Amino acid sequence: MYQVIDVDLGAQSYPIYIGQNCYVERDILARHIHGRQVMIVTQEKIAQHYLPALQKALVDYHCDVCYVPDGEAHKNLQEWQNIIDALLHSDHERSTTIIALGGGMIGDLAGFAAACYLRGVKYLQIPTTLIAQVDAAIGGKTAVNHVLGKNLVGIFYQPQCVIADINTLMTLSQRDYVSGLAEVIKYALICDARFFVWLEENMPALLARESSALLYAIDTSARIKARIVEQDEKEQGLRSLLNLGHTFGHALETAATYSDIRHGEAVGVGLLIATQLSADLGWLAVVDAERVKNLLAAAGFKRQLFPLPEASEWLRLMRHDKKTQDGKLNLILLKKIGEAVMTSEVREEQVKQVLGPECRM
Ligand code: GLY
Repeated sequence: MYQVIDVDLGAQSYPIYIGQNCYVERDILARHIHGRQVMIVTQEKIAQHYLPALQKALVDYHCDVCYVPDGEAHKNLQEWQNIIDALLHSDHERSTTIIALGGGMIGDLAGFAAACYLRGVKYLQIPTTLIAQVDAAIGGKTAVNHVLGKNLVGIFYQPQCVIADINTLMTLSQRDYVSGLAEVIKYALICDARFFVWLEENMPALLARESSALLYAIDTSARIKARIVEQDEKEQGLRSLLNLGHTFGHALETAATYSDIRHGEAVGVGLLIATQLSADLGWLAVVDAERVKNLLAAAGFKRQLFPLPEASEWLRLMRHDKKTQDGKLNLILLKKIGEAVMTSEVREEQVKQVLGPECRM
């Protein structure tokens, strides 16, 4: 059983399937794979759990597998090259289909390889982490990291479909699973106050990975993402709101050289900073800032989750973010719960203050 959300992008439109056991539904796979060749890009750890069943469902195709090492630190041009090499060595033609089976790192890397191989081949997203199911796999952002910053080399390239199967979330470590909740909370904060209330009431069920709560949270998040991407595929305006907490968070990931820190954890801390700054500016009511902090704390996000860089270093790293324009930091902040805005008007001194140890959080 699954539900379907359509992402309406004209000729690049595609469905998001959300359900249980749907990643091995032969009908779905056949609907989106048109040639005879398939290259599954995945990781050993994920393959252990999910590859045999997927290969069984793909028995009618010529199926190769390319393994990528675990960890965001490997989302780089070297691993992109390895995927291209694997495709070439196995004689994959233009009609091939790449399947990204894994978390956001696999989706970004495999999607970028699909965009470039023979000037573009089709690819499917089968996200196996919460963060990828609600965010990374939807919307066609593909990229690799550069030592100077996250996702600095990439392209918008939409998949044929996204298959989000909540059964694949059951083998995630609690740390990996919980980190995905940061992106779920983000959707509520940017545009859905009712969803925020639902999250306040249902966080224990989500932490326990209860199916009905998970299906509702993923469906609501994916719908919000789909509607935003439909209006602003290439992030010229509205889509930037999805980066709430990310400018602060990406800098943390760069500082940690992408190891020992999950993307969702960095976003969770970024959401806390964005909330505090919004309150300091007098935009977000103090009582609402407290609610946001409480919800983030209930999901396990706190400022002291990992060692933070010094405020001036943190700010320096933020300047490399893609949202920087004309040398000015573009920040996404909150006007209220359910309403985010982009601004380039906040003084760096004010930002530095909220990044420093004297900030009360
Ligand atoms: N992860 C933010 C976006 O897809 O735009």
